[in-house]
Amino acid sequence: MTSPIHIIEVAPRDGLQNETRFVPTATKVAFVDALSATGLREIEVSAFVSPKWLPQLRDAEQVFAAIQRRPGVVYSALVPNQRGLLRAATSKVDKIAVLCAASAAFTQSNLNTDIATSLQRCREITRAATMPVRGYVSTAFHCPFTGPVEPTAVLAVVEPLLEMGCSEVAISDTVGSATPDDVARLLQRLLARFPAHLFALHMHDRDGHAEANCRRAAAFGITRFDGAVTGRSGCPYAPGAGGNVATLALAQAFADCTALDQQALERAAAPVQSALETAA
Ligand code: HMG
Ligand code: MG
Repeated sequence: MTSPIHIIEVAPRDGLQNETRFVPTATKVAFVDALSATGLREIEVSAFVSPKWLPQLRDAEQVFAAIQRRPGVVYSALVPNQRGLLRAATSKVDKIAVLCAASAAFTQSNLNTDIATSLQRCREITRAATMPVRGYVSTAFHCPFTGPVEPTAVLAVVEPLLEMGCSEVAISDTVGSATPDDVARLLQRLLARFPAHLFALHMHDRDGHAEANCRRAAAFGITRFDGAVTGRSGCPYAPGAGGNVATLALAQAFADCTALDQQALERAAAPVQSALETAA
């Protein structure tokens, strides 16, 4: 039997954080509410990071206060430090995501610290959190500053994240340059140590391989994939990054094993997409 595939929608967070224009809070709320009606079971809504570092998501509290939470849908957010955890807990976030990376240069760029300190922050957050914690491992294949990243460097952050209690680790191609063979090489290393259900794949798509990467990962037993309905995204601290793999592409690729309403996904994306295109 085909395994069920679980698609995590990250457009409200990853898709909006890199836009030059601030998307109004009401538009974000309507976007999340529309996504909630598509069959998605997990939506990354915003980020409780420093508003100086990510001004586009400075309204995380207001968004969480206004969305209509649909039973059965998990509403999650990024948390980079203890202050972010406090904000997320006050906003009754269902699940949080802590941040680290396999590359030192990206860690410095994105979190203003080194890998060891970023892991220590993740540990403190995970210890104090009362909700499930995802651990992101950025630059799992390629660093925008220093180039290719070896699987050994990825394992070196995956191990502590799982040991500290993350319920899942999102292997992230921050730039969007990985190929299916890169994915296979890394998964062979990771799955020799840990079961597949502990991993999700977070693929950006600069070079056009993201969908094929997800298919290759599924052949290894990975069932959790991040997508963005808008197909736009990127990180302001990762120059040259592509957008996330499109949720619709994933829904089509895994049509037999997801229960997503593809027309509802298109409808949910349209207002935000046109707002962003008009502003561009
Ligand atoms: P810092 O500047 O080293 O630390 O930032 P700081 O403690 O000096 O904080 C700077 C200011 O922010 C201070 O304000 C703090 O109070 C405030 P000031 O005193 O100057 O007025 N501050 C906060 N305010 C609200 N909530 C908070 C918070 N924390 C500090 N939680 C820090 C260190 C970690 C805070 C910063 O580097 C940061 O926020 N980084 C996040 C960057 C980011 O959001 N990047 C994009 C998301 S990650 C991503 O896209 C990758 C991913 O998609 C996976 C992939 O594709 O690879 C997940
Ligand atoms: Mg990302």
